[in-house]
Amino acid sequence: MGISILGMGSYVPDQIMTNDDFTRFVETDDEWIRTRTGISSRHMAGWEPTWYMGKQASLRAIEASGVKPEDIGLVISCTATSDFLTPSMASVIQHEVGAVNAAAFDMNAACSGFVYATDVARRFLETDDSLKYVLVVANEALTRFLDFTDRSSCILFGDGAAAVILEKSDKLYSSALCSDGSGASLLCARSLKVAPEVAVESDFEDPFPDVPLHKLQQNGKEVYKFAVSALPKSFELAAEKIGVTKDDIDWFVPHQANIRIIETAAKKLGAPMEKFIVTLDHYGNTSSASIPLALCEGIEKGLIKRGQKIALIGFGAGLTYGGIIFEY
Ligand code: UT7
Repeated sequence: MGISILGMGSYVPDQIMTNDDFTRFVETDDEWIRTRTGISSRHMAGWEPTWYMGKQASLRAIEASGVKPEDIGLVISCTATSDFLTPSMASVIQHEVGAVNAAAFDMNAACSGFVYATDVARRFLETDDSLKYVLVVANEALTRFLDFTDRSSCILFGDGAAAVILEKSDKLYSSALCSDGSGASLLCARSLKVAPEVAVESDFEDPFPDVPLHKLQQNGKEVYKFAVSALPKSFELAAEKIGVTKDDIDWFVPHQANIRIIETAAKKLGAPMEKFIVTLDHYGNTSSASIPLALCEGIEKGLIKRGQKIALIGFGAGLTYGGIIFEY
């Protein structure tokens, strides 16, 4: 069983931060950031709550779908940058959009979140006959969790949200969800500080013991190495289950982290860059929102058309990775 996207919507905050703006905090320049990452600018939420961005994207998706909010049976919000430890962002959004009959929960698979959440939504649709529509919303405010003294990470990220309304369909679908937790410490933002006297014995190596709470830290080089294998593998694992090849795919929609990662993945897959939707130049890396923001832009620009075969491929902290192949 596959899915059908009935409607989609996106939202980014008004405030834009250009590469030049970073020269006020760190030693960097536009040339370095553009050539090493492909990013020119990104949007910043400021004090706009993460759920608020999710709400706006969800309202647009609901309107585009023509579905009544009360007919939505499930809201899944994916985020790594929730406003709260609890309640879930999904519960807040469920109320804000009037999805009064929906169950609601959050998922955190970091930048792979939208791939994970969409596949979980499909599984719910497959196993619950009473469920007609699912709202999947990805909302992220990475810029609130950045160390603006670390030039190698603060320039990468941006804020935004995108949402889809899904229903079940007989159309082509395949997925592969993967994780390699041995890399958990490579991309990390701490929510609590555990006192040294209660430290436990484990393989989990804390690479950033002294960093402030809630600030994202990463080993950029190691994440890069992981990403250039994880992206093609995400596609190949999903593709081999249904016997499709890269030539059958009309559009690849990859996680938007670094243009060099996308180009290397394209080369490894043997697929032309013209088949890849790229939005990171103006959004930066928006974690779980990056794939649906790119998908939404591809649809709005008329690039992605009904009946085409799409591959969503993601990777992120965890280290998670995964792919979905579906017919739009
Ligand atoms: O959703 C997943 C999130 N994370 C990622 O996707 C991260 C993946 N990794 C990357 O995208 C890249 O590794 C980075 C963009 C983070 C770094 O690019 P790089 O080509 O791997 O640079 P590097 O770490 O090898 O650094 C090269 C030089 C260093 O200077 P020295 O030691 O050669 O003098 C860095 O200090 O570039 C310097 N550098 C900068 N220079 C100007 C690092 N960041 C900057 C900067 N501006 N913003």
